[in-house]
Amino acid sequence: MPETPEDAKVPSGTAAKGGTPENGTKTENAGGRASDASGGTPAGARAPDDAETILDVKNLSFYYGENKALIDVTLPIRKNRVTSLIGPSGCGKTTLLRCFNRMHDLYPGNRYTGEIFMNGANILEKSVDIIALRSALGMVFQKPTPFPMSVFDNIAYGLKLKNIKNRNTLAEKVEKALRDAALWEEVKDRLKENAAGLSGGQQQRLSIARTLAVEPLVMLFDESTSALDPISTQKIEDLMVELKSRMTIVAVTHNMQQAARISDYTALMYIGSLVEYDVTETIFTRPKHKMTEEYVSGRFG
Ligand SMILES: Nc1ncnc2c1ncn2[C@@H]1O[C@H](COP(=O)(O)OP(=O)(O)OP(=O)(O)O)[C@@H](O)[C@H]1O
Ligand SMILES: [Mg+2]
Repeated sequence: MPETPEDAKVPSGTAAKGGTPENGTKTENAGGRASDASGGTPAGARAPDDAETILDVKNLSFYYGENKALIDVTLPIRKNRVTSLIGPSGCGKTTLLRCFNRMHDLYPGNRYTGEIFMNGANILEKSVDIIALRSALGMVFQKPTPFPMSVFDNIAYGLKLKNIKNRNTLAEKVEKALRDAALWEEVKDRLKENAAGLSGGQQQRLSIARTLAVEPLVMLFDESTSALDPISTQKIEDLMVELKSRMTIVAVTHNMQQAARISDYTALMYIGSLVEYDVTETIFTRPKHKMTEEYVSGRFG
């Protein structure tokens, strides 16, 4: 496990000045292709700066026991926009994503300091209704997580919890979610089969469909397309852009082209700190920090 020592502070202002780590490693998808991304402004990448803030992260630090994994992170997540979280492995992307729906609370010893405001309330307060929070902020994990039940029931499960019991309504919503997640054609004749029998990529799209079905306010995607083939990836990217009209998307990705294609805003993290946050086009074409430029062009990471 990579270390995140207590003193490894890289405040956003000093990260770039501190120079670039000469580790010589490259993130698989962050190679020279990243520069292609700056060639044109992809549809959906430009966002007016007047977007409302739905999640306002203020001086957030997070500890796995003694291990400080997030250091004083401050950034807004804008409503009805796609925000990409990028940065080298171990920099804290998943950790930040899991703060948004308090997944960390499932394990003892984890601790947050700072705030995340949603509708004026700090969602890190002990009194927050975690079940309600998790249904408002749905998460699609890096690895698919099908429930041990049929394909249909995987999607219907959350809908039933929301008191949707009518069979026709359930069937319609299950189909809609599976279509949106680009899975319907492959499973429409296998709805009663156990979801464990689906391929990895199909299970991933099933997880997306399951989260989507309950219409959360915010969808948190953690490298959710990394195991998908190009066609499914394209469909999920299209879906994310389409979902913006009714949801807010936060997507962790190692794929710079994907970040450039789908997101309105991008945040670069490094060893637990936020290096730079800005409109995606700015991050890819004229970032403020040298580290950002080097990361998005594949020169480190
Ligand atoms: N359960 C845990 N207990 C202790 N430390 C952890 C735990 N999970 C993650 N960490 C540490 O927290 C830091 C951030 O990890 P995190 O998983 O958020 O990184 P990441 O940016 O998502 O990386 P990747 O791109 O590899 O998924 C790392 O140093 C990691 O080792
Ligand atoms: Mg991760």
